[in-house]
Amino acid sequence: MRILSGIQPSGPLHIGNYLGAIQQYITLQDENDAYYFVADYHALTSVRDAATLRKYVFDVLVDLLALGLDPEKAVLFVQSDVPETVELSWLLTSVTPMGWLEKCVSYKDKVQQGLPAEHGLFAYPVLQAADILLYDADLVPVGQDQKQHLEITRDVAERFNHVYGGKKGVFRLPKPYILDNVAVIPGLDGRKMSKSYNNTIEIFEEPGAIRKKVKKFVTDSTPVEAPKDPDACPLFGLFKLFAKAEDRDEVERRYREGGIGYGEVKTRLGEAIVERFAEARERRAEWVAHPERVAEVRAAGAQKARATARKVLDRARAASGLG
Ligand code: ADP
Ligand code: TRP
Repeated sequence: MRILSGIQPSGPLHIGNYLGAIQQYITLQDENDAYYFVADYHALTSVRDAATLRKYVFDVLVDLLALGLDPEKAVLFVQSDVPETVELSWLLTSVTPMGWLEKCVSYKDKVQQGLPAEHGLFAYPVLQAADILLYDADLVPVGQDQKQHLEITRDVAERFNHVYGGKKGVFRLPKPYILDNVAVIPGLDGRKMSKSYNNTIEIFEEPGAIRKKVKKFVTDSTPVEAPKDPDACPLFGLFKLFAKAEDRDEVERRYREGGIGYGEVKTRLGEAIVERFAEARERRAEWVAHPERVAEVRAAGAQKARATARKVLDRARAASGLG
């Protein structure tokens, strides 16, 4: 199957990105034909300083490589290295009803959080549809918050196929790949972990900073001795994704029986997170010390991605009467 996903370079990656998306990228790269990219065109909607954007693009490439994305198995590239994306985006824009974009929650959310109501932000889902359709993707691993964008992508593809496709259709219809247990990772305040809520634990923060941040995780005021419902506790929800099976079972039992305090769970969670990323942290330092290798990976990825993209774009251009 053709797998594709993208991640915005709009700041340091957090454990919600890792559990909700990146872990799936890595699992899926083994048996499939996978394409993963850094969505810098999309980040233009929020990052407005050239040097910062360049740094974030480099950081995301390095983070993905450190976390186990293997450029021998998957095509790793930067979105703007494939300018065909923007041309396809225009073709799609031309058949996208305004109403579909007006109902988009993520646009409304971002404007509410104070981002200016610019056209790029409004048209963001069409650019995302172009990303996905340009590579004939079958499956798109993402967190729950991207579900609506995937629905719009399918709607736009169907509409384009209907208008121009004839019997065969121009675009393949992609499906989201969202795993239930990691669809929405909670942040320190119990809401969805997100850069825009300032409630994240970054994957490659200093171990000391990670331990300290985890201590801030909000919990209720149930006393240590009282039994607690592990399924209703976001802190336990996170702990169980990082802990070894026996630790998870032990803590779950003590929740139900009473006798475990949140402080202990936080300390153990902090340790488990630091341990989980220890090897990746070392690999990351290696990549950072060799930016020329990162540049090589980027250039090779761009070449492969562009070759695939060109064919699909030509199909869409021909179908719509361009050229
Ligand atoms: P953010 O909301 O912090 O800006 P992004 O929008 O850049 O994160 O997300 C990149 C990927 O990580 C997407 O696939 C998104 O669905 C996933 N993701 C982000 N936050 C979470 C979360 N809290 N839980 C699960 N997946 C998430
Ligand atoms: N909108 C996605 C996010 O904020 C990033 C993204 C851009 C993406 N293009 C994509 C994800 C294509 C999957 C497929 O997380």
